[in-house]
Amino acid sequence: MDSNQLKIRHSFSISSIIFSDGRYNVDVQLYLAKGLSHRQVVEDSSLCDVAGADYLLMFRKIGKNQTPIQHPFGLLNYAGAREIPRELLQFRGYEGKQTENRFSHWIWRQYASAFWDDVRIDRVLPFIPAREENDERHIHPLQLDVIERCIILWSNPSEIVFTPFMGVGSEVYSAVANDRKAIGIELKSSYYRQAELNLATVTEVAQENLFSIAAA
Ligand SMILES: C[S@@+](CC[C@H](N)C(=O)[O-])C[C@H]1O[C@@H](n2cnc3c(N)ncnc32)[C@H](O)[C@@H]1O
Repeated sequence: MDSNQLKIRHSFSISSIIFSDGRYNVDVQLYLAKGLSHRQVVEDSSLCDVAGADYLLMFRKIGKNQTPIQHPFGLLNYAGAREIPRELLQFRGYEGKQTENRFSHWIWRQYASAFWDDVRIDRVLPFIPAREENDERHIHPLQLDVIERCIILWSNPSEIVFTPFMGVGSEVYSAVANDRKAIGIELKSSYYRQAELNLATVTEVAQENLFSIAAA
């Protein structure tokens, strides 16, 4: 079903964001696709490919949202690699007119981009202990920066985040760290156990984050 059918038949709009680190994807996919190998360049570069990007697809039910997700003092935290200009820090949690909240405006400008090139590619939960012999060679959990942005923008505190493909628990972890609840389903028992271990650390990490915010 294409996005037009989705819109007409089921009243959903769809938009997408790219968040891949191109070089990382080349490293990962190099082993899987001959078109990415240097050998292909040498032999016949007309058959060269480029690495696939990672996409975030956002589906939104068209119509009035009955439960707005409000940020009365703007966005409070930035999940990403760029350094926030120091002079903006004084506006964090600004209670005045939100048109003047330069801290939140700055964060939103990064998030509003169609290409999230400021995602910290290695900011992921531990996953190596959960690998087994016959695993794919390059399994990689979803980056926490991507998940945190989605959770903050598209859910309210106390709401439930659901993932049918939990892996090592990144989405449930971020949900709990950001005062949401979460339900996850995972097929593989070693990943499930790793998700439990990762979840057990969520409170200390959330506390560390609070301290670093207070120190900023
Ligand atoms: C790409 S990984 C998800 C990784 C996850 N986002 C994370 O950061 O850890 C997809 C996961 O879905 C699991 N999976 C695949 N098919 C499944 C199914 N039918 N039911 C439950 N889990 C499934 C796989 O074992 C794998 O761990």
